[in-house]
Amino acid sequence: MSAPMKLKTLQSHLQDLKGFVEPKVELEQYETPPHIAAIAIYTIQTQFESITDKLVLDAGCGPGSLAVGAALMEAATVTAIDIDSDALEVFHYNADVMEITNVDAVQCDFLESKFCRLDNYFDTVLMNPPFGTKRNAGIDMKFLHKGLQLCSDSVYSLHKSSTRSHIKKKIKEWGVEGNVIAELRYDLPATYKFHRQHSKDIAVDLWRIHHPNS
Ligand SMILES: C[S@@+](CC[C@H](N)C(=O)[O-])C[C@H]1O[C@@H](n2cnc3c(N)ncnc32)[C@H](O)[C@@H]1O
Repeated sequence: MSAPMKLKTLQSHLQDLKGFVEPKVELEQYETPPHIAAIAIYTIQTQFESITDKLVLDAGCGPGSLAVGAALMEAATVTAIDIDSDALEVFHYNADVMEITNVDAVQCDFLESKFCRLDNYFDTVLMNPPFGTKRNAGIDMKFLHKGLQLCSDSVYSLHKSSTRSHIKKKIKEWGVEGNVIAELRYDLPATYKFHRQHSKDIAVDLWRIHHPNS
């Protein structure tokens, strides 16, 4: 299946994006590395045709590598949501620099129930959700569940590979279908002061989760 932009070109654009200025640990603010974001967007388009001409939502957009990637891949529209106004400021900066016009940014809590007015509205929901800390356990599954509510087709989401069996269990429980479409290595930089190593290499799965028959 075709893509309007080559993988290398997409990655080189995403490499130029500005990151979080002062990342907030409680919101798990770390960017998807550009090569991971590029592979994810390119794979989602070339294997499933889920980006070009589609209504796309990026849940927890941060500086926007997934949203900007989708816009560059010629999504019909991209809606980018984040709870944090500082992250959205960077997002707007990146969208301006990339001269992207088919994106809307919304500041809100993605898990808030009033967002359900948009149930099934989007074709595709993209996310690199907060993985969930001790204080915030289970937020990744809440993001996934909400994403499924808002889309008519598929959610594409990045998760630590160590959570694979838990996600499989949840998928079964929710009556939806899904599988890992790419296994990636994510070089998580030492964003926060409490990280002792410069970076931590973790295995990450790109999931496609969808309603039956879609
Ligand atoms: C792991 S970062 C991913 C950032 C970006 N999507 C990327 O891939 O580079 C998670 C993002 O989710 C946002 N976030 C955390 N909790 C949220 C919530 N309840 N509603 C909306 N956004 C949230 C954070 O501010 C952060 O930008």
